[in-house]
Amino acid sequence: MTVEVERVNEIIDRYGAEQMHALAILQDIQREYNFLPREALEQTAERLGVSEGEVYRMATFFTSFSLHPKGKYVCKVCMGTACHVLGGPRILEAMERELGIKAGETTSDGMFSLEAVRCLGCCALGPVIVVNEEPHGYISPDRAAKLVRRIAAGEAEPEEADTSAEAPPARSAVDLSSVPPAG
Ligand code: FES
Repeated sequence: MTVEVERVNEIIDRYGAEQMHALAILQDIQREYNFLPREALEQTAERLGVSEGEVYRMATFFTSFSLHPKGKYVCKVCMGTACHVLGGPRILEAMERELGIKAGETTSDGMFSLEAVRCLGCCALGPVIVVNEEPHGYISPDRAAKLVRRIAAGEAEPEEADTSAEAPPARSAVDLSSVPPAG
């Protein structure tokens, strides 16, 4: 991974190199590289006139930031309470099987990272997965596996609408004994 000084400077200049915009700058850097490269963090600290420690503190405080390279497509499977009840664990299993990795890992070709995350804030669409910030609601294990298969084959992009998801599926009674603590 090559971090271009000019590219990072462009991002920092976009915010006038002001400390108050440090969070937005880190978000843009992460968007650019899919993680926060060490060189970019050092450059940010220097340009903003703050210590590297302060920048690292921010980078490690927010769970949306990563200090390690992620795949081109980051798949987040919601394991919040509502999605868990509606089948989140089965969706995670299906995606682990399809990608051949566990949650928290990245495929060896650098294409996909898989994450199990807490409530994504759109419980009414549950169960939900997000691929590169694009939410897919009412997802089933089959459809989740099919989506990553199509993205891997270059047949779909994360934001591609899945028309089969337009109507919420009929809900059946759920077993509340499997619900984990809120989160
Ligand atoms: S529990 Fe999944 S979006 Fe809220």
